[in-house]
Amino acid sequence: MNNSLNASEVMALIFKYITKISSTRSHKNVLIVLADMGRAITSADRCTVWVVSDDKKRLWTQVAHGMDAIEIDINSGIVGSAVSSRERIMINDVYHDYRFNPEVDKKTGYRTKSMMVVPMYNKDDEIIGAFQAINRLGDEEVFDKRDMERLMLSSTYAAETLESARLVREIEDTQKEVVFTMGAIGESRSKETGNHVKRVAEYSKILALAYGLSEEQAQLLKDASPMHDIGKVAIPDSVLNKPGRFDAEERAVMDTHAKLGYDMIRHSDRPLLKAASIVAYEHHEKWDGSGYPRKLSGEDIHIFGRITAIADVFDALGSDRVYKKAWDDEKIFNLFEEERAKHFDPKLTDLFFENLDKFLEVRNEFKDEF
Ligand code: C2E
Ligand code: SIN
Ligand code: SIN
Ligand code: SIN
Ligand code: FE
Ligand code: FE
Repeated sequence: MNNSLNASEVMALIFKYITKISSTRSHKNVLIVLADMGRAITSADRCTVWVVSDDKKRLWTQVAHGMDAIEIDINSGIVGSAVSSRERIMINDVYHDYRFNPEVDKKTGYRTKSMMVVPMYNKDDEIIGAFQAINRLGDEEVFDKRDMERLMLSSTYAAETLESARLVREIEDTQKEVVFTMGAIGESRSKETGNHVKRVAEYSKILALAYGLSEEQAQLLKDASPMHDIGKVAIPDSVLNKPGRFDAEERAVMDTHAKLGYDMIRHSDRPLLKAASIVAYEHHEKWDGSGYPRKLSGEDIHIFGRITAIADVFDALGSDRVYKKAWDDEKIFNLFEEERAKHFDPKLTDLFFENLDKFLEVRNEFKDEF
């Protein structure tokens, strides 16, 4: 029993968990690691880190890897009471406390005896959640002042960790929005209807997963692919929106959009913008080496480029453009068969046909207006 941890042992534990937390990427898993830390430090049988939901109506937590999140009403039970009163609570016989909500015990068969709860605040002094410890281990089975101090220490550290995890998440969300918006700007200039970039994003993710890329890589591609035509912002209107077929000179001007897009974002080290720059550069390369701008061929073309090529052309052919009407499906599928191993990676072409129902579902869900 770690009843008698001394100060330096507590510090050692904290450092151990700091290392663990800084290598934990997901918000949910951070909650689990923080709870483990609290348990080790306070000698409690269980610890739970509760987080106030965005709408401030609920508290949620993740108690184990791979399990669903648990949610309770923000006013419910002792935890809710600590959060709404902004008070620390220590109770050594919860069943004699009117605030206790025995529902959780009923569901789990676990018997709660003693409990400590400490609210967590951000720098603006807003409540962001609560750190809860249940059932003191050891002979006494009751929490004391020193346990409370340790829970407060854990909760202060937890609050900072959660705040920085939230900031990271916000920055990442902002980046995704910027990237998406820039893609949509490129699109609106070329008078293409609203959902093109959304559909290309969804198609790209379907193909990425079917190809065997990880969920993380597939999601990265999905977030980056809306940028594929960002270089079109630098193409003059007279070319971009020409209501008919290009002549050779116009064609040459348009072909610069791939390199232009790449040059606009290639200087960033952010994974998302790096992926976007690859997609911008390589989405018009062709498997047989006849594409542009570098005439790459086969697997020299990045998988992100090969995937976006299919997603982009499938969508372009099925949509009206200033220079052409939408094709019917049969004509589109014929082209895809025709271009297998010419324009398109043969393996990806096969995966396209195998997953056709998913593509059609997306096309249906994100239809263009009119
Ligand atoms: P987009 O309209 O989104 O088309 C993307 C890609 O889909 C094209 O890349 C091409 O591979 C395929 N695609 C689209 N329409 C057709 C078609 O009618 N027939 C065939 N076989 N393939 C088609 P591409 O050719 O490199 O063109 C890149 C972009 O250049 C196009 O994006 C579009 O914005 C513009 N563009 C291409 N040709 C013309 C044209 O004749 N007139 C105008 N105004 N724009 C054009
Ligand atoms: C929330 O903040 O409302 C919970 C959603 C989450 O981050 O999983
Ligand atoms: C309560 O705080 O009273 C119920 C929640 C729990 O037991 O975890
Ligand atoms: C766009 O994404 O805005 C235009 C069409 C293309 O994919 O080439
Ligand atoms: Fe393009
Ligand atoms: Fe496009």
